[in-house]
Amino acid sequence: MPKKGLVAGLDIGTTKVCAIAGEVDEDGEVHIVGMGTSPSLGLRKGVVVDLDATIKAIEDAVERAERMAGARFTPAFVSVSGEHIASANSRGIVAVSRSDHEIEPGDVSRVVEAARMNALPPSDRDLIHLLPRDFMVDGQDGVRNPVGMFGARLEVDAHIVTGLATILANVVKCVQEAGLEVEELVLEPLASAEAILSPAERELGTVVADIGGGTTSIGVFVGGGLIHSAILPVGGTHITNDIAVGLRTPVSEAEKLKIRVGAASPHMAAEGELIEVFNVGDRTPRILPRRVLCEIIEPRLSEIMSLLRAELRRSGYGHLIPGGIVLTGGTALLQGIAQYASENLEIPARPGAPDHVTGVTEAVRSPIYSTAVGLVQIGARERSGMRLLRQGNGSKGAMGWLRGFFRAVLQGA
Ligand SMILES: Nc1ncnc2c1ncn2[C@@H]1O[C@H](COP(=O)(O)OP(=O)(O)OP(=O)(O)O)[C@@H](O)[C@H]1O
Ligand SMILES: [Mg+2]
Repeated sequence: MPKKGLVAGLDIGTTKVCAIAGEVDEDGEVHIVGMGTSPSLGLRKGVVVDLDATIKAIEDAVERAERMAGARFTPAFVSVSGEHIASANSRGIVAVSRSDHEIEPGDVSRVVEAARMNALPPSDRDLIHLLPRDFMVDGQDGVRNPVGMFGARLEVDAHIVTGLATILANVVKCVQEAGLEVEELVLEPLASAEAILSPAERELGTVVADIGGGTTSIGVFVGGGLIHSAILPVGGTHITNDIAVGLRTPVSEAEKLKIRVGAASPHMAAEGELIEVFNVGDRTPRILPRRVLCEIIEPRLSEIMSLLRAELRRSGYGHLIPGGIVLTGGTALLQGIAQYASENLEIPARPGAPDHVTGVTEAVRSPIYSTAVGLVQIGARERSGMRLLRQGNGSKGAMGWLRGFFRAVLQGA
């Protein structure tokens, strides 16, 4: 039996699968009680391409986490990523026609449903999230929770995230074959943001960039909610491959060099600093200036920054993100990357990791685990949302949309 209050997060990444179990206390705070990771060999650019390898990696990671937690943790909140994911904003409008005009939870579910109908995905796509951002009552915007207010017209602005149905079905299949149920699929940058952004940053306008192994996933938060998201098919693995090719060294050696002595730009390597590089099939190392390694890293980072800039422009809020950019994912550990991003994008930048989270292991406090920790935190929030919902009279069909609504309300609280 799952422990009372236990929430499970499963991050299926391009380089690793990470399972985390958290216990939720009375105040809604999450304490990590189990964590397990396993190398991921069945994904490319955030998408499952090998079912068996992915199932095996999930089983390994989950088994480790369950052993640490001393409990089984099905079902799980599971991350999704990949270039197939699309996002759009949609508005819903309904009339509140009862004579007293007092807005009820049922009106909220109707307006959220109207926003969904306005952005119905084509049949080959499934809805991943419908996140209500801002309600308007009789034209007055900025309403976080309209329930109980008087009004004749209720509107909502919502962010809608969809993915290719077949690709999502493969993720669900892997999780199920590994012996777990999917409680909810969660967009990677939404989960990472949960672990690393403060409520003030979400309100002010802040971008999260999770630069992982095979992808860079982006979430733009303004006014407390997600207004733009995108998954770019480039990440740290590309940097490693560039180094392997550029320095004619094995990929494993290139990865070590990047982690130990890599930096975001050649300017960050001091004059005269030298590194040892092994050739493919050769045991005698070559000695090279460290600057040469950084000269190989920079163009790929510059490409990632150009793509980030283009997404910010596309969001329509490129000029309105005083909170700047928060970098997470494993590649955020690259020396000097925050400074590089700040100079390149001309906005403030900081690294972000789930460093406030408490629990049995310190290891989770790394940007590599932002997504997995965020999944558990979202799970904890959803559980309290569900409790709120049961006290209201939301219809069963609107459950999924309303969870997002209560999440938004709780975020603002
Ligand atoms: N200290 C470091 N410096 C630079 N890069 C690092 C460092 N540590 C890890 N990385 C890189 O981080 C990447 C893995 O990050 P992460 O675990 O966030 O990816 P993932 O979640 O598996 O992949 P994705 O999110 O793209 O599907 C790898 O490319 C790895 O080389
Ligand atoms: Mg990731």
